[in-house]
Amino acid sequence: MNVEGCTALVTGANRGLGRALAGMLVQRGARKVYAAARDPTAITDSRLTPVRLDVTSKEDISAAAAACSDVNVLINNAGAMLGSPALADDAEAALGIEFAVNVAAPESIEREMQAEWRKSLIASGSAP
Ligand SMILES: NC(=O)c1ccc[n+]([C@@H]2O[C@H](COP(=O)([O-])OP(=O)(O)OC[C@H]3O[C@@H](n4cnc5c(N)ncnc54)[C@H](OP(=O)(O)O)[C@@H]3O)[C@@H](O)[C@H]2O)c1
Repeated sequence: MNVEGCTALVTGANRGLGRALAGMLVQRGARKVYAAARDPTAITDSRLTPVRLDVTSKEDISAAAAACSDVNVLINNAGAMLGSPALADDAEAALGIEFAVNVAAPESIEREMQAEWRKSLIASGSAP
């Protein structure tokens, strides 16, 4: 995929694959890369534009969509894999967090951001 000149937003960009993807977008010629994270102070690469975004927070999603209205590539990278055994005491709570982050959040982000941007997304990847 040619990302040259695009404006991208990567969720969970503070570590792991998200951080690598954000850096790769810059290296491949993206015009601007928003690095979204629950803690935006964790974004230390000066080539990136930090954005506060807990993907389970409707308020954060709305604020990010408004602040990043020029985005045309969205990478829904943020993910949670708690790996709680099925019969553990915290299994239900863990499953709820995994569903919220891995399933519900990408859908909410795409819905809100498309409505906000009123532009066509050219790519949107997500964990599930
Ligand atoms: N690594 C693999 O082999 C592999 C394979 C298949 C799929 N994946 C998927 O690829 C994605 C990235 O994998 P990874 O290995 O880099 O994962 P990781 O190291 O566990 O990083 C997860 C990222 O998601 C963020 N995150 C979690 N909950 C969040 C929330 N509520 N709001 C915002 N950000 C949140 C984390 O931020 P915090 O630092 O704030 O927790 C972190 O930046 C995940 O969706 C994963 O399921 C990975």
